[in-house]
Amino acid sequence: MSLVVFPFKSEDPSLVLGNMAIAAANDAIDEVWAVAAEEGAGEKAVDRGAGEISRAHLKPVSVLLQQRLGKLRPGKGDAMNTAIKRAAEDGWDRVHFYDADITNFDSSWIDGAEAAADNGYGVVRHRFPRAATDAMITWMITRPAFARIFPGTFLPRLDQPLGGEVLLTRSAVESLAGSEMVRERSDWGIDTVLTYTTSVMGIGLYEHHVADGKRHALYGSLDELKEMLIECLDAACSLDGLPGPGSDARHGSDPASDPPEDLKRIVAYDIEGSRRLLGKVWPEDEASLVAALPDEAAGRLLSDGPDRVFGRMDANLWYEVHGLLLGRFVLGDPSWESLAFRLWLMRVLAYTVQQASQGYDEAMGYLRSTVERYETTASSC
Ligand code: DGY
Repeated sequence: MSLVVFPFKSEDPSLVLGNMAIAAANDAIDEVWAVAAEEGAGEKAVDRGAGEISRAHLKPVSVLLQQRLGKLRPGKGDAMNTAIKRAAEDGWDRVHFYDADITNFDSSWIDGAEAAADNGYGVVRHRFPRAATDAMITWMITRPAFARIFPGTFLPRLDQPLGGEVLLTRSAVESLAGSEMVRERSDWGIDTVLTYTTSVMGIGLYEHHVADGKRHALYGSLDELKEMLIECLDAACSLDGLPGPGSDARHGSDPASDPPEDLKRIVAYDIEGSRRLLGKVWPEDEASLVAALPDEAAGRLLSDGPDRVFGRMDANLWYEVHGLLLGRFVLGDPSWESLAFRLWLMRVLAYTVQQASQGYDEAMGYLRSTVERYETTASSC
């Protein structure tokens, strides 16, 4: 018995309903839920449409309201945990989660995940190519954190550790429903925590490749990602010191294929608008936090305003800065939140100007080799 769940908030109801209809039409799927962040016009529109899909496919299709289960900002984590809790109580064998904003969702996502579960994998994550300037939290925060905290395991090599597209089999759903760490993570940090928790369950993890990439709305200036950035950073910090998957952990993956040509040309965010956010001078509180870096690194950053020195934020300097953030960042502290965003912005812009501008293949090779280098550095410490 398989269930599909779409958490949603402000996505276009017709997109959410289109994705729900695709899931309902799949023979492997017995029921579809959308979990709404709040009551309102969007939730009502999806609820009305769900009734029609249910009648057309003769299976239950419904909208749930997310419950307040966690301790952090009420967000995507509460939505996913609402579904995990209820699916565990109902005893579903397989639960698929998909972000509601995917514009190229089709049955092959479901079929690919089901096939891997049929082959005995307890968790299936979807992997897909993304634009060279997309996934900047994945590439600059999460994968480097996995490389430092869990070197030598498969975690740093997972393609989409922040992806909300995952299939969980019953034992995974039950363990996640019983995990305090997962339940408390009500914000954007949920994907990081789910990726970690499912990787240490010992039930096998498979990455199913979606060759066309995940198509979704892209960003304006990068301040649109500030909340996600600080919450994903905090989630990464919360993993420091925890045990990683064992060397015998079962991990399989479809091979990657050549990304579609149009995806290689996409610029995922507004570069000039983001550059304007850097600021001409370092705020005093942030400068005193940066001063905790080794002298040479702090000197390189503080010798001029952020908008003039951002190009110095290369992979080596970022390794030091990322280490400082991982060890000292405090969620809810305005100075740390503002500083973490500014430093990440400097890193993303430096990479965009220096590497992403060289072409897709060069940029992706650079990102992958940087994470590998961080992992090697971390293992030798
Ligand atoms: C990421 O970095 O993967 C986030 O989805 C933002 O693009």
